Amino acid sequence: MVTKIPSGECMDATLRTRFLELDLATPLVLPAGVLGTSFSSLLACARCGAGLVTTKSATLTERTGHPGPVVVETPAGLLNAVGISNPGIAEVLREVAVYRRHTAVPVAVSVFADSPADFAELARRVSDSPADLLELNLSCPNVSGEFGAPLAGSPDTVAAIVAAVKHAARLPLIAKLSPNVTDIAAVGRAAEQAGADALCAINTLGPGMVIDTELGLPVLSNGSGGLSGAAIRPVAVRAVHQLAQSVGIPIIGVGGVCNAVDAAEMLIAGARLVGVGTALWSGGIELFGDIGRNLLAYLNRRCYPDPAAVPRLEPSHA
Ligand SMILES: Cc1cc2nc3c(=O)[nH]c(=O)nc-3n(C[C@H](O)[C@H](O)[C@H](O)COP(=O)(O)O)c2cc1C
Repeated sequence: MVTKIPSGECMDATLRTRFLELDLATPLVLPAGVLGTSFSSLLACARCGAGLVTTKSATLTERTGHPGPVVVETPAGLLNAVGISNPGIAEVLREVAVYRRHTAVPVAVSVFADSPADFAELARRVSDSPADLLELNLSCPNVSGEFGAPLAGSPDTVAAIVAAVKHAARLPLIAKLSPNVTDIAAVGRAAEQAGADALCAINTLGPGMVIDTELGLPVLSNGSGGLSGAAIRPVAVRAVHQLAQSVGIPIIGVGGVCNAVDAAEMLIAGARLVGVGTALWSGGIELFGDIGRNLLAYLNRRCYPDPAAVPRLEPSHA
């Protein structure tokens, strides 16, 4: 029940929302990788109003990633070729254990591998940790370079990985999808049918390239990288809308969300939760609190009792 006040607005909406049996204080999510792996940055986001935080993608063993520069600003976002640098799953899970001692805000561990067997081994390790959710970064290549053929490009490959992980994991499973595919709905359906409990869309768009005109060379040492931030939001909104028409499992909408209007747009597209990533680089982690307050004002203004009550866009708009 919501209470109308004389202006016609309501006053007792809540940001609380359910997601895979978890009771989240807000629908706002720190997506994988944007702020690294340390427990302190995850904790800072949780304390600023993220309802769920995600670690940087972890591999079985340490990965150094690409040499710098790995990030360059673009007119409306970032281009990055970090290359999944991470200290390995054991170290990431140590950070998660420290995080868990400081807060009850749920944490998803993101993992990254290039074979179903390695994904399954990572899933076993994460299942034995205090993590709440397991996220599969399916944007990794199965041939060469970070933007070779993303695993998430093939519904069959995605189904094989999700099925292997489902068998090994005792945690709810989120499949994170790449936008760099011709039919994201087919990939999402394959993940759902293989046992994914939720989807996260989208990872970075691209690859893209920025050239230093004085040097006559790409700015990123890797040559190209993945685009994130405001520029990709329309692509993310379309992907979430298409997925929401195609699957019954909940979706975390990620890509270019910078303010509460953007967050509401994701909810209308069909997201249950909303990631805020690149915007934190310029806006700081206080953005979680700002977006949360303004999203609550939006819910009250529209008399929606909670984020899950925001009406979704009708089918067939994509
Ligand atoms: C510097 C950087 C590192 C990232 N690292 C990861 C990662 O390790 N795993 C992953 O699944 N996504 C990673 N991402 C993608 C983000 O989680 C997110 O899907 C993407 O940036 C789109 O959201 P945004 O526009 O709000 O940043 C990274 C993005 C950035 C900018």
